[in-house]
Amino acid sequence: MAKPKLTFCCQTCGTLYPKWTGQCNGCNEWNTIVEEVNQPAAPSRFQGYAGTETVITRMADVTLNEDIRLSSGSQELDRVLGGGIIMGSAILIGGDPGIGKSTILLQTVAHLSQESKALYVTGEESPQQVTLRARRLGLPEKHLWLLADTHIDTILHHVQKEKPRILVIDSIQTMHTSLLSSAPGSVGQVRESAMQLVSYAKQTGTALFIVGHVTKEGSLAGPRVLEHMVDTVLYFEGEQDNRYRIIRAVKNRFGAVNELGIFAMTEKGLREVSHPSAIFLSRSAQEVPGSIITATKEGSRPLLVEVQALVDQSHMANPRRLSVGLETQRLSMLLAVMHRHSGIATHGLDVFLNVVGGLQIFEPAADLPVIFAVLSSFRNRPLPQDLIAFGELGLAGEIRPVPGGQERLKEAAKHGFKTAIVPQANVGKNKLEGMKVLPVQSLKEAITYFENL
Ligand code: TYD
Ligand code: MG
Repeated sequence: MAKPKLTFCCQTCGTLYPKWTGQCNGCNEWNTIVEEVNQPAAPSRFQGYAGTETVITRMADVTLNEDIRLSSGSQELDRVLGGGIIMGSAILIGGDPGIGKSTILLQTVAHLSQESKALYVTGEESPQQVTLRARRLGLPEKHLWLLADTHIDTILHHVQKEKPRILVIDSIQTMHTSLLSSAPGSVGQVRESAMQLVSYAKQTGTALFIVGHVTKEGSLAGPRVLEHMVDTVLYFEGEQDNRYRIIRAVKNRFGAVNELGIFAMTEKGLREVSHPSAIFLSRSAQEVPGSIITATKEGSRPLLVEVQALVDQSHMANPRRLSVGLETQRLSMLLAVMHRHSGIATHGLDVFLNVVGGLQIFEPAADLPVIFAVLSSFRNRPLPQDLIAFGELGLAGEIRPVPGGQERLKEAAKHGFKTAIVPQANVGKNKLEGMKVLPVQSLKEAITYFENL
């Protein structure tokens, strides 16, 4: 086979180079130039009439094949996948090293291998290590096939011969193709390898799982470059030292995004947590300043989580605004609104924020609890333990309603919360037993409640 021509291409502006350089002349960006295989353009493609391979169809005439969804054996994983695994789809699972990617995939393929032929390709562990883990977890292993290889061309050769229905690649960072001369794990290799795997999966209707590592620095060769190539992107959230692992769908062509699946890491592998609403509630017995519970709704279920704030004298020229589990930008914005509309000045003070349990909250419903937590730490006054709050804060100091108010309130009432401070429109007509629901329309009103709690 003739060696294909290589080019180097800037990932930002598309300028081509015959060899690698550090900075692109086109856009002046650094480290954006990546090795690529120079595919010869298909002959006669845009050169006039190209034959009759494609047809124009009226939408009304399109017939749909009922998507076949296989159950992964775990309701929580099925939920994030949008109801199960679709044949021919490519699913990327990203997350920090050691978070449980190999474990969940091994459990899933072992379950699937009872019905369909499944191949687990491991580039990181030996077949012995994988088998040891599977035996320890007590997984059905009889029809599970293993391959320890990192060379994409060899892997595809095996796969074409064996034709598995489910294919797992663990991990894409270890794979390489001989078309490129760069090292495994580089952007060029990761992308080229994934491209070949995905096109194989699409052509043959094989369900493909790809494991990708993300490093803390957001890594150059991380799975981010793969996100538009695949149908579904799942990310592991949560800290490694925490028992609970959260899988979030960040992209899904076959289901809702931001759906969460919640698992507990046990000595027997990942176990699903089917009633997760209160797993993050492990507060100290005493009331402490700077802590409040909120009912968040990431995905389709309400979850009760603790938001903590610490406001302290700053010794820096630029006081710090740090937040874990919430956007730091949003925190800065909320502090600005608090200052402008209620005169609460936090400049000169460090403000730290934390969502307990490693959950990431992206919805603005966390605004009101953040304000209460910050106020509580600022004034050094604890909030009652049976209080919850949720609501979005606008730049004009108004409190706006959030979706799913009733579900959040019901969940909180179920777990014994007695008072809720919520946006006016979220109060609802039906009274909840044992719960006093206080409506707020503005930041001023919220602060008045705080003073009188
Ligand atoms: P692993 O799936 O190997 O992580 P990844 O593939 O994402 O790098 O998970 C490794 C972690 O999970 C390790 O810290 C140990 C823990 N673990 C358990 O606690 N119990 C188990 O049964 C298994 C298999 C792993
Ligand atoms: Mg692994």
